[in-house]
Amino acid sequence: MKNIIILGSQWGDEGKGKIVDLFSEPFDIVARYQGGHNAGHTVFIGERRYVLKLIPSGILRPGKIAVIGNGLVVDPAALLKEIDALEAGGVAVEGNLFISDRAHVLFPAHRMMERMSEGREGRVSIGTTSRGIGPCYEDKIARRGIRVADLLDRESFPAQYRALMEEKVEIARTFGIDEGLDLAAIRDQYEVFAARIRPMVCDTALFLNQAIANGKRVLFEGAQGTMLDIDHGTYPFVTSSSASAGGACTGTGVPPTRIQGIVGVSKAYITRVGGGPFPTEALDGAGELIRQRGNEFGAVTGRPRRCGWFDAPLLRYTAAINGFDSLVVTKLDVLDDFETIPVCTGYRSAGKPVDGMPALVSAVSSLQPVYECLPGWRSSTFGFSSWEQLPARAKDYLAFLESHIGVEVGCVSTGPERTQTILRRGSRLEDLLS
Ligand code: GDP
Ligand code: IMO
Ligand code: MG
Repeated sequence: MKNIIILGSQWGDEGKGKIVDLFSEPFDIVARYQGGHNAGHTVFIGERRYVLKLIPSGILRPGKIAVIGNGLVVDPAALLKEIDALEAGGVAVEGNLFISDRAHVLFPAHRMMERMSEGREGRVSIGTTSRGIGPCYEDKIARRGIRVADLLDRESFPAQYRALMEEKVEIARTFGIDEGLDLAAIRDQYEVFAARIRPMVCDTALFLNQAIANGKRVLFEGAQGTMLDIDHGTYPFVTSSSASAGGACTGTGVPPTRIQGIVGVSKAYITRVGGGPFPTEALDGAGELIRQRGNEFGAVTGRPRRCGWFDAPLLRYTAAINGFDSLVVTKLDVLDDFETIPVCTGYRSAGKPVDGMPALVSAVSSLQPVYECLPGWRSSTFGFSSWEQLPARAKDYLAFLESHIGVEVGCVSTGPERTQTILRRGSRLEDLLS
């Protein structure tokens, strides 16, 4: 009974939602382990388009259990809106979704704190999703956060809430900001939210470990990507959680010994939303072409994504951090019309080769990518579902990536739909899914 983690190997938006939805078929449970409604996963099933933010993509398959682990920050308003939208679209959520009693609760004041820090003169803006994610994790780490269990505790919640919110309002006032938050009205509203989510809340670590002990299979779903990980990403231009594979254990309470495989998802090129260094960003017309052909606009904020060429040293770095057993390469079809396709095979700095990923933002910003240009295949691969259909040059492109990363490409995605996918026969990935 293999349990696996599927996570982003770049700066997010690699197509994890599509892949988790597709691969969740043989699993019983899909568990998210970090992040919040900063994530945006677009999944197409036939004519229907679903955008998932907090709820694991596995919810779209009838009969699967979805778990929001302790590592997440949950905005109950956003969660209930998402539940209602899914239920209205015919997806059965209540009864199939379990929420950790140890996940942290996000409040409007967290967004206020974020507006304050992102807007402050002289501070480098991260270009966040403005959802209050960072400030909510700040409270968690500072040991003053409010968890779902606290929200549900009618006795202690009001006082805990008052203490936390009054502190936020005072800090904001010190910086000359008064957003006039009606703290009592928000508290009442959260008590209503609490009543609705109560039946879904449990000790999800206990639930998951018992399920595994009883032979159930769990798929762990990462949000964001390894380069946005709080420890291993391009700090400080990162999100505030552990998006890499290690986060699956701390964010769910399932030990590493219960996880048998780790699968990275990567685009056939690379994108990033928000600020921060991006060595292979294509600032010429090619970046715009990728954006148009790949429809690279954020699912949460609608911001145009910054686009660039495949960065093999970055993938080598994230493969090492996560220990990928296999890679899924998505959006191959987006490269169909390019005459030549540059791939970064290494970095140089001041004329010298660079190993690994520098810690300093300034050092990452000044990396000079070394490119090899591969011939494009210049024919449509859109919707292909078998390896044999791929043009020889597309196969060569994928083999080139494999050889420069040192990890197999176990699956290729050629369109947003489930059927538009090639699972390679005999791959390690096929074995992990069996
Ligand atoms: P996630 O955050 O990693 O789940 O990715 P997003 O959903 O934010 O962004 C990926 C986008 O690409 C979505 O709109 C998907 O529907 C779409 N997509 C996924 N795989 C493919 C593919 O192979 N080809 C094309 N053309 N689109 C894809
Ligand atoms: P999915 O799961 C891409 C980026 C933001 C910003 C930084 C910090 O869809 O791949 P935050 O609001 O998290 O404090 O913002 O992280 N970011 C994402 N970029 N995909 C995501 O999620 C992202 N979630 C956060 O743009 O640069
Ligand atoms: Mg996304």
